[in-house]
Amino acid sequence: MRLETNLSHSWTYDSVRRTMNPSPFIPQSSDRVYLDHNATSPLALGLVEELVRWSRSWGNPSSIHWDGRAPKNLLREARQRVAKLVGANPLEVVFTSGGSEANNLALKGFHGARAVSEVPGERLADRSQFIVSAVEHPSVRKTVDYLTRWGVQVRVIGVDRDGQIDLDSYAEALKTPTALVSVMYANNETGTIFPIQKMTKMAHEAGAIFHCDAVQALGKAVVDVKKWGVDLASFSAHKFYGLKGAGCLYVRQGLQLESLIHGGGQERGRRAGTENVMAIAAMGWMAQAADQIEERAGAMKALRDEFEQILLARISDSRINASPGKRLPNTTSIQIDGIDGETLLMNLDMAGFAVSTGAACSAGSPEPSPVLLAMGLSRKEAQSSMRLSIGWGTTREELARFVETLQVTVQRLRSLRDAVKDEHL
Ligand SMILES: Cc1ncc(COP(=O)(O)O)c(C=O)c1O
Repeated sequence: MRLETNLSHSWTYDSVRRTMNPSPFIPQSSDRVYLDHNATSPLALGLVEELVRWSRSWGNPSSIHWDGRAPKNLLREARQRVAKLVGANPLEVVFTSGGSEANNLALKGFHGARAVSEVPGERLADRSQFIVSAVEHPSVRKTVDYLTRWGVQVRVIGVDRDGQIDLDSYAEALKTPTALVSVMYANNETGTIFPIQKMTKMAHEAGAIFHCDAVQALGKAVVDVKKWGVDLASFSAHKFYGLKGAGCLYVRQGLQLESLIHGGGQERGRRAGTENVMAIAAMGWMAQAADQIEERAGAMKALRDEFEQILLARISDSRINASPGKRLPNTTSIQIDGIDGETLLMNLDMAGFAVSTGAACSAGSPEPSPVLLAMGLSRKEAQSSMRLSIGWGTTREELARFVETLQVTVQRLRSLRDAVKDEHL
């Protein structure tokens, strides 16, 4: 199915925003440019009309009577579509409230259930080690920290200057009996893509279960959990032109998970609570765009690569904070010497450009990005960095306007800095 969007033809993001997004949180006026798609994405064209239609299916999907049937069908259809999008079987999809909950369910749910689940020859309950990378999202990092209270030993694998994982350390870590590995598909700040298929194989050879936080993958890469070989994988709808409040965890058939939320038998007992039918239906509706992802990822990559070249040429003393190789097609983390990222962000915001200095959930924190520090950047280098993430609707014209404004802003901030320095001489 081809989604009823005008994105594929004209790439006019402004018209998408004006027509489809009544949210006051998404810039409405055409003089604003949104370059923070890794934080969240605008709603897809056509979705609002569907939401109005689905709102008539207001019943409880668990009701046996007539008003439960329509929402139940919406859930069933969404489950089939999302399963197809990620390459899973519908029964392997557990809907959650988003990526953070999916990550919590994967890690805590696995920890809770492993006393009874087994891998050939070894009981996972006897293994206390969980492996994560040094650049995981806080919803993984803080969850494994929490699990140390319950006997889990956490081993953190470092990354190199390009943000790529250290596979030798990983192989070394796997020599210690490991219950679970949790490594993200792609980093939300730098876009660096990890070799998930290879890492999963290594984990399985060592008898461990593999969880992948694939929240940043939807809409940017073709996802195939079976090909990757992972046992668990997390996804979030609002990173893929859907609504906030829906996401899912892929749970490989046969893997036991303890529910985080106890109550009714929804999601086959793996997540109690009446489902967020509209947000889940919206996630399913977007999943129909699966056949467009490859083409759109290619288009974003071409645009992003051209954008980076222009940025580097026009902004002196700047560099990209990640490997040129395996990277999400929409993400740029750029370091600009002599500039404070937060100050730059505020100046760009006032000029109508939405960018970020790191993960949206740590925005406002005076601390430099832990991801960039883990890559070996100094505090100063990390603090002079900014993340730019484009989307399906971003236009070349918007990026050209951004570069113009950035150049002027950087010049102004550098002159101010020099003037202050002179005063102190
Ligand atoms: C890699 C990654 N994992 C998890 C999350 C959390 O997802 P959600 O906002 O749906 O809770 C995010 C959100 O930024 C993310 O980038």
